[in-house]
Amino acid sequence: MKIQSLYTSGDICGFRKNNQCLHENNSLLEQDTKSNSLSNRIYDNSQTKINILFLAEILDLINDAVIITDTEYKVTYWNHKAEKLYGIKTTEIIGEILTVAFEPLWSYSQQQQAYTDALEQYGFWKGENIHLKKNGEKIYVDSSIFVLEEKFCGFLWIIKDLDNIYYERSLRQIAEYKVKEQSTLIDFTRDAILMLNFDGEIIFCNEGGYRTYGWESSQMHGKNIRQILYDDSSLPQIEFALNKVLENGEWYGELYHLCKNGQKIILEARWILIRDNQDNPQSILTAATDITEKKQLETQFLRTQRLQSIGSLATGIAHDLNNILTPILAVAQLLPLKLPCINENTKGLLNIVLDNCKRGSDLIKQILVFARGAETQYMNLQVGHILVEVARVIRQTFPKSMEICMDISTRELWMVFADATQLHQVLMNLCLNARDAMANGGTLTLAIGNFFIDENHAGIHLDANVGPYVVVTISDTGCGIQTENLGRIFEPFFTTKELGKGTGLGLSTVLGIIKSHGGFVDVCSEVDRGTCFKIYLPAVESIEKVEFSELEPTQGIEELILVVDDEKTILEMTKTSLEAYNYRVLIAKDGIEAITLLSQHEYKIKAVLIDFIMPILDTKITISTLKKINPQVPIIIMSGLASDEVITKTSSSDFQAFLAKPFTTWELLSTLKQVINQSK
Ligand SMILES: Nc1ncnc2c1ncn2[C@@H]1O[C@H](COP(=O)(O)OP(=O)(O)OP(=O)(O)O)[C@@H](O)[C@H]1O
Ligand SMILES: [Mg+2]
Repeated sequence: MKIQSLYTSGDICGFRKNNQCLHENNSLLEQDTKSNSLSNRIYDNSQTKINILFLAEILDLINDAVIITDTEYKVTYWNHKAEKLYGIKTTEIIGEILTVAFEPLWSYSQQQQAYTDALEQYGFWKGENIHLKKNGEKIYVDSSIFVLEEKFCGFLWIIKDLDNIYYERSLRQIAEYKVKEQSTLIDFTRDAILMLNFDGEIIFCNEGGYRTYGWESSQMHGKNIRQILYDDSSLPQIEFALNKVLENGEWYGELYHLCKNGQKIILEARWILIRDNQDNPQSILTAATDITEKKQLETQFLRTQRLQSIGSLATGIAHDLNNILTPILAVAQLLPLKLPCINENTKGLLNIVLDNCKRGSDLIKQILVFARGAETQYMNLQVGHILVEVARVIRQTFPKSMEICMDISTRELWMVFADATQLHQVLMNLCLNARDAMANGGTLTLAIGNFFIDENHAGIHLDANVGPYVVVTISDTGCGIQTENLGRIFEPFFTTKELGKGTGLGLSTVLGIIKSHGGFVDVCSEVDRGTCFKIYLPAVESIEKVEFSELEPTQGIEELILVVDDEKTILEMTKTSLEAYNYRVLIAKDGIEAITLLSQHEYKIKAVLIDFIMPILDTKITISTLKKINPQVPIIIMSGLASDEVITKTSSSDFQAFLAKPFTTWELLSTLKQVINQSK
């Protein structure tokens, strides 16, 4: 063990076993073994010696380097910490000039002068500076230098290792930062993190918990979760989870929790038992993710899948039903022409057949539109047509206590680039909401018009741009929407209707569709007065005249038409209808007959009406052969399938028009007239 001593009776003496010592006015006396005998001689059993040893031990215990130099900076004392700090042993430094204390950037004389000036003037020097270790490494130190009493004639240096202090400080800072980071993370996560005791009392809750449940910290802290997060129906869940976590140390599962506003939410929860150092259970840590929306989407997805399968089933049935309805419709329209003398009573009966056929056919169209719901097919179209179609359906299906008005401001409506099926869905959803809002009757007005949005208007609505728009307005005189609900009606699953009556998806679908068309929706409502939804759709350049009234069908001028269908009744009825309106008709029951007839009559045939699904020769091949014989002949496809299905199965350039079965005589004649005119 090393011992150093400070001899206070006017002399300083440092001694170590096998070391050097110093003496008398800080001058180096002797080295090595001599020092022992010298020291022994000096201290010789006196009380002073005990004091000095005691003092030396204290100085060695000090955590700072303690150094004494003479006035020329030669070292006369060097404690244990100084050895460690500078890597220089006492034996190496005693009697040497304290060059380690001179900053590497300063010249020896500059630094010495700075110290000397300060010490002379103030009796001490204090500051932070860079010292050098024996191996040349720099260390940051805080030095305090004091002038010793005259008889010592030197300086006392107390050097603190700042590197160490900084290191400790930075360790503490890192630890503090980590704690802060972790608590930020805990608060940042959207999960609700709770710490519970075994009674279910909340010891801790993070920000995510307050956000999820809507309670404030003071309202949750110390409360039992049974009281604030559970109701009678969900209480058994918590007992189950508690038992499991105590039994197995963890539990995962779904829980139903109550929020402050009474809303029930579904959570995916993880519970873990927290133990202390002795492995004794301390508390329960729970983390829970709100999966209510995910669950609702899952349910919605399953429902959509179910509907899709019903949809494809319906498509098949619709095709056959249309084939059944087509001749009925044709007969009902033809009979008054065939039998001009039938009385009004019989005409009325035929009208009933006609109306019901149309209703049946509209219903089938609805099912087809619904079944094709997921497909999108954008094209330039006239929203006016869709609105008229919707009006026809709702007139037939809505309660008679509801008056339905149409308001069409112009016959020159702009076109929009849109998906007809989706727009149909939008308008139906809005009309259905209006119907539900007018349980005791009222007026539903469907309006459409052109509207140019200028800079001023564009500024009012976020999604509006300067340019032409087509605006569809659906207004009712129903119950109106409460002000507090107005901001929420477009949220998915928001509904004020009783369970089973509404999903709350109607308006969110409307908004989604209109936004995907580059448009926007405006709503205004007054409680007990009514509601008005305005749909803005960006218009495309071209303008089309819209004829909303069903015009008298135009007569033919004895043009020769080829009708091809494997259904005999359809063939007969179409032939009769066309002949009644001054067309000449050839009929073929399959593709081969059709090809034969066209090759015989070639350019005399002005148009071909052909069923989409036929036996023997596929319609696609039939059409392409017909086109080879006469490339100019216009083709009209008749089908019980939806038009877009036909388009995907053929190429739209193969045919000029599509006639959805069952068709009215007016639809048949106007389509025929249109294609014949275009082919001229
Ligand atoms: N014309 C309207 N008059 C009064 N309230 C309306 C009207 N349209 C919508 N609402 C309100 O907006 C809510 C949301 O409508 P939305 O169409 O999204 O869902 P829903 O009609 O309740 O259910 P779903 O359409 O799925 O059957 C309705 O529950 C109703 O409170
Ligand atoms: Mg709705």
